[in-house]
Amino acid sequence: MEKKEKVSVKICVGTACFVQGGADLLLYQDFLDPVVLAGCDIQGVSCIGGCKDDAMQVRPPYVEIAGQVFGEMTQEKLCKLLQEAIHA
Ligand code: FES
Repeated sequence: MEKKEKVSVKICVGTACFVQGGADLLLYQDFLDPVVLAGCDIQGVSCIGGCKDDAMQVRPPYVEIAGQVFGEMTQEKLCKLLQEAIHA
């Protein structure tokens, strides 16, 4: 069976994101399911650009999942999105 590639996940730890809830997302090892953790390559990165994009309709904190940027991220939302991403 072919090994599935891990889903790339970048949690923004830039100031705008960090102060608006990004810090909570960095506790991901506490709230994500072990299966999700095993299927994702999660990194903290400084500013992924969402806070500087006037076209962005949602507010920080931002997380990039498989190249797509999502805003107003919460622990619950991240759990749900990553569950979907690893099964995609
Ligand atoms: S600080 Fe997070 S996108 Fe800029």
